[in-house]
Amino acid sequence: MRIAMIGSGYVGLVSGVCFADFGHDVICVDKAHDKIAALKEGRIPIYEPGLDELVQRNVRSGNLSFSTDIATSVGEADVVFIAVGTPSRRGDGHADLSYVYSAAREIASAVKGFTVVVTKSTVPVGTGDEVDRIIAEANPLADVAVVSNPEFLREGAAIDDFKRPDRIVVGLEDERAREVMAEVYRPLYLNKAPLVFTDRRTSELIKYAANAFLAMKITFINEVADLCESVGANVQEVANGIGLDKRIGAKFLHAGPGYGGSCFPKDTLALVKTAQDAGSPIRLIETTVEVNTQRKRAMARKVVAACGGSVRGKTIGMLGLTFKPMTDDMRDAPSIAIAQALVDLGAKIQAYDPEGMGHAKKILPPGIDFAEGPYEAAEGADAICIVTEWNQFRALDFKRLRDVMSAPVIVDLRNIYQGDELAKHGFSYSSIGRPKNRHMAGIKDAAE
Ligand code: UDX
Repeated sequence: MRIAMIGSGYVGLVSGVCFADFGHDVICVDKAHDKIAALKEGRIPIYEPGLDELVQRNVRSGNLSFSTDIATSVGEADVVFIAVGTPSRRGDGHADLSYVYSAAREIASAVKGFTVVVTKSTVPVGTGDEVDRIIAEANPLADVAVVSNPEFLREGAAIDDFKRPDRIVVGLEDERAREVMAEVYRPLYLNKAPLVFTDRRTSELIKYAANAFLAMKITFINEVADLCESVGANVQEVANGIGLDKRIGAKFLHAGPGYGGSCFPKDTLALVKTAQDAGSPIRLIETTVEVNTQRKRAMARKVVAACGGSVRGKTIGMLGLTFKPMTDDMRDAPSIAIAQALVDLGAKIQAYDPEGMGHAKKILPPGIDFAEGPYEAAEGADAICIVTEWNQFRALDFKRLRDVMSAPVIVDLRNIYQGDELAKHGFSYSSIGRPKNRHMAGIKDAAE
């Protein structure tokens, strides 16, 4: 199959490279000349474990190439994927579809012969119909089948998710596309993954419903964690106890500072807007969005409490800034709201992240000091706050930490330590939804 991937951002690049690795002939296209120039030189614009090697291997084997020329790439393709961004529109939270529609117009004038046009970008219900209409209007002779094929890739695990998916969802209206899409996903090791064929609108909604459900699950356990703190119960044990029920499942029950990232915040908001416009509001998700937004800033209160009621004039070391580990992505990361709240309350912040410092320097509020490592961030600090659960923070040298800090106080927003262990090292420790300093033997981590 000859595949053109329009948009070489996170989703486009990972998907394009993986398709090339399946043996397809893939060209990744992007308007950004600097991005394509970098990729041609073997420089990968994003941090994703394993992506570098996979790009190099497939460029060498001749299955993967890069271009800024959309017309030639589309003209030679059997399948054209649209994988451009769909950010939240400023002001109203709807998904901004201008990039998708402008890609559709360009595709319309460049297609030759029967071509399957696939939206991989996360798009609201009905976008496939609009792409179909735009192409037909721009080029009435174009012979295309417009398909929806949402992605379910997690940052940091995207290649594995692509190659070992729980399912592949394909929404189509033109039966000719069924065979083509089956061929695109044919590789043997994928045969075990269910290929779910449905209509286009249903496929578009599956993506939003999946992300909204997961965001709701996280928000549920976060609120249960708050309740645990009020009544003296343990959220990890609750998560374990409910997660063993197969109808609930153990994954995505890890309480923390609130979900962030490029998908959940944007997709939950877009679903809320779509549902309101359709006259069928999904109140559970409206509440999820609201609760999660408030939660991020509220996490600063934990730091204030750990510092004895005020952080004014105090130094706080923030460990971990990205929205989750194994990524450099800072989009909607809880660290942004927490840092802002602490700065507003008069704290001085020393921040460190293993991969996200570049983006963090642009996004975090002004006046923050950026440290070279966790111990530098803790230097002279009245408390450290673990915001992202990078492996690097899971085995800190407590003696060294105590020596450099002004006061031995740790606020752990990801529950990566046990209170009694830290008490032994002389630390005052607070975490999420767990009684202070109570030992919990044999509790399995409920998150993935
Ligand atoms: C998500 C979806 O998992 C993926 O299927 C979709 O295609 C894109 O959005 P991603 O945003 O990369 O992927 O990260 P994910 O691992 O799902 O985590 C999202 C957020 O939820 C992070 O901020 C994470 O810290 C938080 N989270 C996740 C929790 O707080 N608790 C959990 O138990 C799981």
